[in-house]
Amino acid sequence: MTTSNIDSTETSRPPAPAAAPRAETDGSAVIAAPKASTAERPYSPGLEGIIAAETAVGFVDGANGRLLYRGYPIGQLVEKGTYGRVAELLWTGEWRKTAKLVPTPVPEPVMCALYELPSHTHPMDALRTAVSVWGAWRRPHWPPTVDQARELTAMAPSALAAFHRLRNGMEPVPPNTKLSLAGGFLQQLTGTDPDPASARALDAYFIVGAEHGLNASTFTCRVIISTRSDLASAVCGAIGALKGPLHGGAPAEVVSQLHEIGSPDRAEKWVREAIARGDKIMGFGHRVYRAYDPRAAALRKVAEGMSDMAEWLDVAVKVEDVVLRVFGELKPDRVIKTNVEYYAAAVLQGVGLPVDLFPPTFALARMAGWSAHAIEQASADKLIRPDARYVGPAEMDVPSLGGR
Ligand code: ACO
Repeated sequence: MTTSNIDSTETSRPPAPAAAPRAETDGSAVIAAPKASTAERPYSPGLEGIIAAETAVGFVDGANGRLLYRGYPIGQLVEKGTYGRVAELLWTGEWRKTAKLVPTPVPEPVMCALYELPSHTHPMDALRTAVSVWGAWRRPHWPPTVDQARELTAMAPSALAAFHRLRNGMEPVPPNTKLSLAGGFLQQLTGTDPDPASARALDAYFIVGAEHGLNASTFTCRVIISTRSDLASAVCGAIGALKGPLHGGAPAEVVSQLHEIGSPDRAEKWVREAIARGDKIMGFGHRVYRAYDPRAAALRKVAEGMSDMAEWLDVAVKVEDVVLRVFGELKPDRVIKTNVEYYAAAVLQGVGLPVDLFPPTFALARMAGWSAHAIEQASADKLIRPDARYVGPAEMDVPSLGGR
């Protein structure tokens, strides 16, 4: 990535903290003196606006609605790439024609664990368990490597598909290794090779979901790797963070929202009433983007190419127009545009995924970004350890309660 691609406001840093006071000794041990008092240093709830890492992996340009992976715009990567090439780009910085990722069979220890899970297990928990058992079996060492990332990313879709079949009383099927990772995932879910258009549409979704800066799950991943822990532990933590509805849960709600609206002529009334109640319209708004989410634009194009989705899409596009117009009128001071989840819902439905597989499928896509950040964080090799401002009671004596 050239520095000219980077908005200077995104990289400007807060003033350096005051120099640390000298360490003191009590004669027996060295006691590190605190830097400046935490009461004097700035506190940003949710770390909002804090720059906590430098990265060359991806650039989220919220003001201008741009998303770059290693300098390349997301729209072009979807048009010209495959998930295998994009994953390799994220891991190594190289854009190679020969780069590809094929689905690999579920290793036996992982499969045994999947057989043991109750059928009511949330698929996100099943995926996290699969990654954990993979880590227990393979014992990936620190620092994480591209080979580890490839192996985990290629195994994960097979594990999720195997779990899905098991919970529905079906035996897992081995992957067709002639297919792409996304195609192999669909084939292992259904037991038959997917049509090429569906495989390509899901591959595009995987590309779009692969990386998005220092979001909550990627930050979690970097924190864990910064302790010199291993890739499986870091990815388990990231899956845990992505499981939260504030991070990975919106596309499913977009589906129920459009079902509820039913037809475009009911959209205006529905949207006005929802906003008046203070409800959130799913698939709109973003913490970082103040422009149309470039991922939504890329996925809309993909959805437009899916013939099965034509009717659904027609409603979705008309509802989108109404929502954007009403937002413009009712919230003129706040730029609220369509986000990625709106059209992700169309693509994931279009390829036939059940709604509760939407979040773990997002995790499969993000595996490339998480592991790229893990590799980068390990090369920086700096423990992430922020401070907390203490707001509890002042020091006091422990009251004697008598006895022990
Ligand atoms: N529907 C209705 N109002 C909205 C929406 C929305 N989707 N998004 C923002 N607003 C309004 C808020 O009501 C608020 O209005 P007010 O100032 O009059 O009270 C204002 O815009 C600011 O909203 P916040 O929630 O504070 O903005 P924030 O940047 O923190 O939120 C978020 C971003 C959480 C994504 C929000 O837009 C939202 O909840 N969207 C719906 C859920 C969704 O689609 N999530 C997926 C996001 S993409 C992703 O995570 C991969």
